[in-house]
Amino acid sequence: MSHLAPISTIPVALGEKAYPVVIGEGSLASLGERIRGLGFREGSRVLVVSNPAVNNPYGGVVLASLERADLVATMLVLEAGEEQKTTATVARIHDEAFALRLERGSLIVALGGGVVGDMAGFAAATWLRGIAVVQVPTTLLAMVDAAIGGKTGVNHPGGKNLIGAFHQPRLVLIDPTTLATLPPREFRAGMAEVIKYGVIGDPELFAALEAASARDPQAGLASIEAVGPVVLQTLLERSAAAKAQVVAADEHEGGLRAILNYGHTLGHAVETLSGYGLWLHGEAVALGMLAAGEIAVAMHLWSPAEQERQRALIAAAGLPLRWPDLNPEAVLACLQGDKKVRQGRVRFVLPTAIGRVEIRDDVEADCIRKALVALR
Ligand SMILES: NC(=O)c1ccc[n+]([C@@H]2O[C@H](COP(=O)([O-])OP(=O)(O)OC[C@H]3O[C@@H](n4cnc5c(N)ncnc54)[C@H](O)[C@@H]3O)[C@@H](O)[C@H]2O)c1
Ligand SMILES: [Zn+2]
Repeated sequence: MSHLAPISTIPVALGEKAYPVVIGEGSLASLGERIRGLGFREGSRVLVVSNPAVNNPYGGVVLASLERADLVATMLVLEAGEEQKTTATVARIHDEAFALRLERGSLIVALGGGVVGDMAGFAAATWLRGIAVVQVPTTLLAMVDAAIGGKTGVNHPGGKNLIGAFHQPRLVLIDPTTLATLPPREFRAGMAEVIKYGVIGDPELFAALEAASARDPQAGLASIEAVGPVVLQTLLERSAAAKAQVVAADEHEGGLRAILNYGHTLGHAVETLSGYGLWLHGEAVALGMLAAGEIAVAMHLWSPAEQERQRALIAAAGLPLRWPDLNPEAVLACLQGDKKVRQGRVRFVLPTAIGRVEIRDDVEADCIRKALVALR
């Protein structure tokens, strides 16, 4: 193996279900070898699930790597898009699994963003009551969030992610060079989740992002070129470590995992009300973090200066700071119907310092209203 930069391994400590998150430039070519290292025998069948935007640049490298390692690989290319994340598409993966006679010792590889990862993961969770899956995320969002933690699933016409299962992958392989082809807006949306990890638990990550954006204030953190390979590797490692730590402490989303919902309570309302598709998920999360910060300032939980640092970083990442069409009453009504509501109270993850959050269910409606008005 020739490495362009050091490859790091972050463990997800889940006992018998533990697995590594491998992060490094050029690591894609080592996929086959690493799968063999997990104990998959020569001749094991591997179904790779991807979509055209990812398969075209990277499918060849992946298949060649699997074949070099004496694995029998087949590529299934599905149409891209959130609207494809359905049971019908999972049925197509199952049809392919049947045609290839995937058995207990076989493997599914998800090569793509969160949509591919969620669908391929769910197909693996349900085929023969669960076969192995390896996640190879190719969007920043999937690298720092969706691919780690074992949540898999698809949408139901009645709502997002209503059908799903917990199914931990055996390996997550992150090759940052695959981000070179990611549409810039998708890159920026992923940065929202990275900033989230800084605010909820990693002040050093937050400071590293600030330092990187100060190098060239014009470019900020708004593109992969502006961030550069060194900072990119760092933010991938720290974000993966943050997600891994929360997942290890709370595999099935009892309590701690709720802090990962920072910015998401309002973010989901933003997505719902503006119709899925107007804002990308990460953009909605950025607006949600800004609103949560406003609420926290109003409740004297954190300082205006720290809220300003958060705002500046969101701006540097080229993420939205305003939602002009926002209707506060509609958002409040939407929050009441959200699944994060417990006994009629809306649960918010609120920052108390850069690197620390609290979960609160005592936020007054009027306080939420004021924070929303500030976003318009
Ligand atoms: N399982 C979890 O814990 C979890 C967490 C967060 C989000 N999700 C899910 O993830 C999904 C969103 O994922 P996403 O943001 O990665 O979106 P996505 O998978 O739709 O990918 C975004 C777009 O980028 C393209 N793309 C992906 N990688 C590329 C690359 N390297 N080069 C060029 N184009 C590329 C895709 O084809 C797609 O058009 C949602 O369905 C969401 O529910 C799951
Ligand atoms: Zn998110």
